[in-house]
Amino acid sequence: MNSFTIRREAEADIPAIRKLTSRAFEDKPYSRQREAEIVERLRDTDALTFSFMAVKGASLVGHIAAAAVGMSDGTQNWFHIGPISVAPERQGEGIGSLLMQRALDELREMGAAGAVSVGDPAFLERFEFVEAPDLGIPLIDPQYFRARPLVGDTVPTGTVKYHAAFLG
Ligand SMILES: CC(C)(COP(=O)(O)OP(=O)(O)OC[C@H]1O[C@@H](n2cnc3c(N)ncnc32)[C@H](O)[C@@H]1OP(=O)(O)O)[C@@H](O)C(=O)NCCC(=O)NCCS
Repeated sequence: MNSFTIRREAEADIPAIRKLTSRAFEDKPYSRQREAEIVERLRDTDALTFSFMAVKGASLVGHIAAAAVGMSDGTQNWFHIGPISVAPERQGEGIGSLLMQRALDELREMGAAGAVSVGDPAFLERFEFVEAPDLGIPLIDPQYFRARPLVGDTVPTGTVKYHAAFLG
């Protein structure tokens, strides 16, 4: 039986997170192959809201991060979930779903109003992320962008203001 543990990152995990993130996004059309660097820049500027790892035994098999975002319409308390990475040889085993569920639970516990993410729409829509035609995002093709209100069902309008780590 497959069983995975989810835990917060520790300092010793940083090199493995970098390697896993690079591998997971290697050939993705919605990626600029900068995800590993984004996680490190967020961490280095104390802007990582959380960083969870999925581990099996001693191996890192998945990772998810989140960071606060601003909204140009003034809506507060939204976060970006991602990057989300599962080791290519372990994809399709439920690890990404476990990580996403943990991230959404954590944001709810923090009292977050909502989350945005970028990635495979089919995956995101399983977690009730919706298209957000009135919410713009810099640099990313909007077809890969989704929003997930956690309080009510209103998606902010305008543009998402990202931490500089995402934009370099
Ligand atoms: C997207 C990703 C995080 C999903 O993780 P995963 O562990 O493979 O996903 P799960 O095993 O939890 O799959 C959950 C469901 O989503 C489906 N799914 C997974 N990845 C999918 C994808 N890329 N496209 C469509 N459906 C997908 C699975 O078939 C599964 O459906 P099922 O329960 O009916 O079998 C992982 O494939 C990954 O790391 N991709 C590369 C990096 C990336 O794109 N990150 C951004 C994610 S939005």
